[in-house]
Amino acid sequence: MWLPCRCALKSAAASFSRSGVFEPPCLNVVRRSSGNVAAFMPEAAGFLGVSGRDALQDFSVSDGDGFWAAVARQRLSWIRPFHRVQDCDLSRGRIKWFEGGQLNVSVNCLDRHVHTCPERVALIWERDEKGSEVRYTYRELLEMTCRVGNLLRRHGVKKGDCVTIYMPTCPLAVASMLACARIGAAHNVVFAGFSADALAERIRDAESSTVITVNQGLRGGKVTELKRTVDAAVQSCPSVRRVFVAMRTDNPVAMTARDIPMDEEMLKEDVVCEPAVMDSEDVLFLLYTSGSTGKPKGLVHTQAGYLLYAALTHRYVFNYHDGDVFGCVADIGWITGHSYAVYGPLANGGTTVLFESTPVYPDPGRYWDMVERLKVNQFYGAPTAIRLLIKYGDQWVKKYDRSTLKTLGSVGEPINTEAWEWYHRVVGEGRCPVVDTWWQTETGGICIAPKPSDPDAEIVPGMAMRPFFGIKPVLMDTEGKVQTSNNISGALCIAQPWPGMARTIHNHHQRFIDTYCQPYPGYFFTGDGAYRSEEGYYQITGRLDDVINVSGHRIGTAEIEDVVNQCPSVAESAVIGYSHNIKGQGVYAFVVLKKGVNVQEADLSKQLSNMVSEKIAKYACPDFIQFVKRLPKTRSGKIMRRVLRKVVECDLDGLGDLSTLDDPAAIQEIIQGHEKLLRK
Ligand code: WTA
Repeated sequence: MWLPCRCALKSAAASFSRSGVFEPPCLNVVRRSSGNVAAFMPEAAGFLGVSGRDALQDFSVSDGDGFWAAVARQRLSWIRPFHRVQDCDLSRGRIKWFEGGQLNVSVNCLDRHVHTCPERVALIWERDEKGSEVRYTYRELLEMTCRVGNLLRRHGVKKGDCVTIYMPTCPLAVASMLACARIGAAHNVVFAGFSADALAERIRDAESSTVITVNQGLRGGKVTELKRTVDAAVQSCPSVRRVFVAMRTDNPVAMTARDIPMDEEMLKEDVVCEPAVMDSEDVLFLLYTSGSTGKPKGLVHTQAGYLLYAALTHRYVFNYHDGDVFGCVADIGWITGHSYAVYGPLANGGTTVLFESTPVYPDPGRYWDMVERLKVNQFYGAPTAIRLLIKYGDQWVKKYDRSTLKTLGSVGEPINTEAWEWYHRVVGEGRCPVVDTWWQTETGGICIAPKPSDPDAEIVPGMAMRPFFGIKPVLMDTEGKVQTSNNISGALCIAQPWPGMARTIHNHHQRFIDTYCQPYPGYFFTGDGAYRSEEGYYQITGRLDDVINVSGHRIGTAEIEDVVNQCPSVAESAVIGYSHNIKGQGVYAFVVLKKGVNVQEADLSKQLSNMVSEKIAKYACPDFIQFVKRLPKTRSGKIMRRVLRKVVECDLDGLGDLSTLDDPAAIQEIIQGHEKLLRK
């Protein structure tokens, strides 16, 4: 694996004392004259009548053009300035920001910081092997990125191509993402826990001819054969012409004519790579995520708007300051890794941790040992990990010095009060704000979070609470009308576009419109439900569609059903989510066998689980498989998932009106079968 030279490491360590987050020098002048709010956000000095933070939020929504223009001019480095702030029509799915503007994202994340502070640490790679972290300065990361960029170019990757990255969280993966951005190629990072089939489907859909991977992955002390998975995947991807293989472990792997040894070839490349000139709305990356059909969606994010939104949210939700060490433990295969391990912190010239391991390896003190060792100031993780760690007891946390921590973040799923309190009281010693951040792959960055807010404003446990700058949430009633009162629940929509939002689904713009823009014309529909409290704070209540959230990983129930239904013994199936005390939600599958099939249920259960693991990923495997004679259906043949959910949640009083059921007796059988399964 590509490592920086030792002498560079020494100077990197000395670069911790530094001054000034990226803030244009000219702003110092206006800051003095405008009191508090301009010290908080320098651009605010130019916003008429904005004197406090609430007023700033109001301004960002009521004069979105004024707000975003000022922020975009100050916080991004442009090759050519934009001439139009936005050109959006949500009802038609047209979203364009900063048109006319040209820039290069990798220059914004690297070169401009190299000019001012080349030896500042950009990345701290917290490798799976505890205590073997490696630091990369901005200069080193730029050099590595340039080498990868030149290598890709030499092998024919061009502006507009899409490169699939199937790698663990490591500096070379970040350099690969930034190298794509540098030469104008889009990247498509596929979580390295996905199976060969899932990877192949994403490579095909993205029409990638280039894949970047490593020989083997290492996570929680376990080796995963990533190169072998890529070999299996590309068998069904005729478009793939080259696979770059870096070495994460020392074990050689079989190479084919298509494979290129990446570390070796990078050595031959120059450390200077001319950045491509990109339009604001050129594609920066695709990221696949689950929807309510069996086919994952390749959400498309573009250059300027995405980067600006990631940077601004990173700066203000976490109160990130110059010199802080930002510890987002998400994998780069998910949007959280993209926005808060890579783009947000790097755009801000920050120091970001890349966490390769698991919360319990080699023991349940791993996170807090890392916090002590790396002096982490902001820790951003998932509720599922917090719930898991609670079980091991407070001593694993208290063993380590966490005095550097200033802000704790939570993402990916609702955080229950017990987990929130523990995170706040035990991990943060009651002195760090906990920010429950709500957002999605589609939103590009955090949309609702307790911060930014006035320093002494309350934070309610388990609530995302306050919309970010430029975000106007609305709750819709069942008739599609905006509800204006408080203390009310509804479908969560966002009333106006913001720069970080996804622009389309790759090659399926109509699906984008149907999913996000059509359900409530003129509004962006999130797919989540939410409650607005008496005080006007938002709390996310969960998905309104058939998407479930297992350990913070989104998965459409239809995707799992598709796999289960491929088994020759299966006639049909219904997969639903249920509350799981660690994972947030677990997967429960109801399976109807074909007539005349005679198999041992235990064997078939195992077979179905293996199929899901091979076709999708391990996390999608059902926790329970219940074989039933028939599924509850309406007379028109629609499976009544609502009823199945009630059975699985053991809420038999809540079964509701069963009169529309085609065959009410089916339910009794299902209830009995469920009880039997639980007793096992
Ligand atoms: C859920 C992850 C409650 C939600 C950034 C959303 C949350 C989906 C929260 C997006 C939260 C995310 N509270 N639910 N703080 N954050 N979700 O695309 O259902 O992997 O729609 O993005 O996760 O998942 P995704």
